[in-house]
Amino acid sequence: MHAAEASVLEAPAATAVTVIPLGAALGAEVKGVDVADGIGEAQFQAVRDALHRHAVIVLRNQHLSPADQIAFSKRLGPMRISFYNRYAVPDHPELTVVSNIVEDGRAIGIADAGMLWHTDASYLRQPDMYTLLYSLEIPHEGGKAIGDTMFVNAAAAYEALPDADKRALEGVRAVHSFTHHLEKKRLLGNLKRAPLTEAQKKETPDVDHPVVRTHPVTGRKCLFVTEGHTASIVGLPEDESAALLERLWAHLKNPAFIYRHNWRVGDLVVWDNCTAHHLAVFDYGDRRRRLYRAGIAGEVPV
Ligand code: SIN
Repeated sequence: MHAAEASVLEAPAATAVTVIPLGAALGAEVKGVDVADGIGEAQFQAVRDALHRHAVIVLRNQHLSPADQIAFSKRLGPMRISFYNRYAVPDHPELTVVSNIVEDGRAIGIADAGMLWHTDASYLRQPDMYTLLYSLEIPHEGGKAIGDTMFVNAAAAYEALPDADKRALEGVRAVHSFTHHLEKKRLLGNLKRAPLTEAQKKETPDVDHPVVRTHPVTGRKCLFVTEGHTASIVGLPEDESAALLERLWAHLKNPAFIYRHNWRVGDLVVWDNCTAHHLAVFDYGDRRRRLYRAGIAGEVPV
């Protein structure tokens, strides 16, 4: 599915969208789109096709107000308003601030988002289908941007499994848990946000999903277990469950399946949470990093 060469997708000549693959496994830059300017239906379909073909797309040099980001996000589907909206963009509950910045003694955003491999909101019955992350401030060191985000192609990872593993995983389900996620971060000494209130805990009971899910658009099968959110395999003793998860997570870290995004201010990165899992690289300490995140609600995984 990942085209090796640049392609011009179908759109009227005046609005041609060019797609340039960025990584061998996934990721592509989409050129010719000015999101704030409003994009026509043909252009939008070209962007959507590129998203499904490459799982992660990068639209550089965007100048987006929160309203622009929301309007574009809504074209991909209904937005999910985070239950954990303590860090919403002021007056825009659809957008969450991802940032390490502290102003007047108050954290302006989630400072620990993405510290473990995950796929967005997999702890919900209906995890996010897409995420749109827009960069406003990116840290630098020695003239180079740091604070990258890594993406793995979970469909390619599934396809590379031996047939015996594929057969063994048929019908197997795994528990995804937000409480487990926060506890894991706390044990690693990485939790940087306020604990969940009892009401928030009630809104996020543990859920189970297939270990291998099928993409609703492409039909590709994707591994759907992550270090961040998957707590256990349903029906397996604890040690066997832990061993299977460790093995699948190690498989998902194969560099052959990974694209690492080096951010520039003005990047709008959009990803498909079925095909791509992601990880934020925390190598920037106190240097300012600020992005706005939007999530598009998905279906119950099958
Ligand atoms: C996230 O996982 O939501 C944030 C990713 C990042 O900050 O790079």
